[in-house]
Amino acid sequence: MLVLPKGIRHIPGFLSRSAQEDLVEVIRLVVAEAPLFTPEMPRTGKPMSVRMTNCGPLGWVTDKERGYRYQPVHPITGRPWPALPDRLLDLWREMSGFEGPPEACLVNYYGPDAKMGLHQDRDEQDLAAPVLSISLGDACLFRVGGLRREDRTVSFRLDSGDLVLIGGESRLAFHGVDRLYRGTSTLLKREGRINLTLRRVTPWRGEGNGG
Ligand code: SIN
Ligand code: FE2
Repeated sequence: MLVLPKGIRHIPGFLSRSAQEDLVEVIRLVVAEAPLFTPEMPRTGKPMSVRMTNCGPLGWVTDKERGYRYQPVHPITGRPWPALPDRLLDLWREMSGFEGPPEACLVNYYGPDAKMGLHQDRDEQDLAAPVLSISLGDACLFRVGGLRREDRTVSFRLDSGDLVLIGGESRLAFHGVDRLYRGTSTLLKREGRINLTLRRVTPWRGEGNGG
């Protein structure tokens, strides 16, 4: 059996087909209000192959000039991100083990040739909360390592309906997506993969304490 780094949890097949279909519908509504945009690498402006949008009070964006950050509005429309759907809030409550609510859901859309280089999720101030990842559509090869880029990594396949928790001592673990397995799911109307990541961004100070 594959041994994952401590703090990484893979939960295969967590979402039923109908739960996955419901989530796709919910995401379609989000994308209708907050269109997918092409993120750019900081400084170089090189476009990423994944397209993105967000829902929740904050959204993760990146562009040439200002780099990686969270902001309350869509970078193109200038409008606030759509609200976090109840289904995602429920899933976070059930699975995150974290008291406070998530503030951002990053929606990543992978076309058949998209991938994501090894990186850390480190733009959040509250690192006590895990990142909760949800996979929908075509499967991919996911890679996760340690806290240094050069640490050994393990790779495993993420299928539609799988969850991954990135937390604890692996909260800052390097991770990425090497490739998609095209045509492995019938969930989406076209080839591709949607990944949702739920994140707590600002420090959570507990109920009724301004958190
Ligand atoms: C991410 O690290 O933001 C995406 C991970 C994934 O697509 O599974
Ligand atoms: Fe990430």
